[in-house]
Amino acid sequence: MASLIDRYGRRFPYLRLSVIEACNFRCSYCLPKGYQARPDLPRHLGVDEIRRLLTGFARLGMRKVRLTGGEPSLRRDLTDIIGVAAAVPGVEKIALTTNGVLLPQRIDDWRAAGLSHLNVSVDALDRARFAEITGHDRLPHILDGIERALALGLSAVKLNAVLLRGLNDDQLPAFLDYLRDRPISLRFIELMQTGDNLEYFRRHHYRAEALEDALQTEGWGLLPRAADAGPAREYAHPDYRGRIGIIAPYSRDFCAGCNRLRVTSSGDLRLCLFGNVGIPLRPLLQDEDQADELQAALISQLGLKALGHGLHEGQTGLTPHLASIGG
Ligand code: 5AD
Ligand code: SF4
Repeated sequence: MASLIDRYGRRFPYLRLSVIEACNFRCSYCLPKGYQARPDLPRHLGVDEIRRLLTGFARLGMRKVRLTGGEPSLRRDLTDIIGVAAAVPGVEKIALTTNGVLLPQRIDDWRAAGLSHLNVSVDALDRARFAEITGHDRLPHILDGIERALALGLSAVKLNAVLLRGLNDDQLPAFLDYLRDRPISLRFIELMQTGDNLEYFRRHHYRAEALEDALQTEGWGLLPRAADAGPAREYAHPDYRGRIGIIAPYSRDFCAGCNRLRVTSSGDLRLCLFGNVGIPLRPLLQDEDQADELQAALISQLGLKALGHGLHEGQTGLTPHLASIGG
């Protein structure tokens, strides 16, 4: 069977699919003024287009799909999308990245439709701080939703926190406390420079290595890297049920572990979060007959995937903010 493998021997069992660009939050590092609709942007893929897309990727070895945004729960048909993904032969894991606002109302339905992995963005555990960063005072509600997700027994529940100097660099004790009795993996993500946030990046960028030093001092140990692991460095501690993952896009070997491809909400393939290349797949998603053509396009595009991003040179590619492509 053909499979997705690039010039550097990397495999891509993992697809990140943005299902909508819009977001209802105003995270200060992403959409500080809130989402501005782009009338020029083609409409997001419909459920049938998504089914054909996922079927095409799964034929080439994709086993895990993450639905991202923007904020995916803004799509009224998100439960249908999860159900469609779950029915694609070969897809074993269905993950969702969300700001969590709709978790309490929707997580039971999403779970029933086949959701297996959940990531919730929680940049601070202090309510006022959370509201300051995201523009919305919804932390207690979101934390309730996370408890519900834990009770439902998903395969994994993760929290994402972007490291922000001066905004949440004092939250480590609260986060550690939270992880003591919860089987949650917390991912600290180093702030990335995007097309829109240069000034903010200069002010708030905080090096992940500084946090890792603090963790090691507290007795957290680095786990050996699993063969199929993504770019996170994982830490564990004997006294804690939770784990900590560090995502440090500026570290030297970050791109070597890349195992993912991306598709934007309107169906453009993106080979790298910060790449300049990517082709529209939508024209190949209009009919079941196009499956072979789609497969050929995916294989030839992958031949173009570069070894690493250009972030060290300040190249942010086509990405104005991560809501445009889904983290
Ligand atoms: N740098 C790092 N992480 C970011 N995210 C959004 N923008 C950035 C950025 N500039 C994160 C969000 C969310 C995930 C989808 O991406 O916090 O957890
Ligand atoms: Fe929305 Fe996520 Fe961007 Fe926050 S980081 S504004 S939740 S897309």
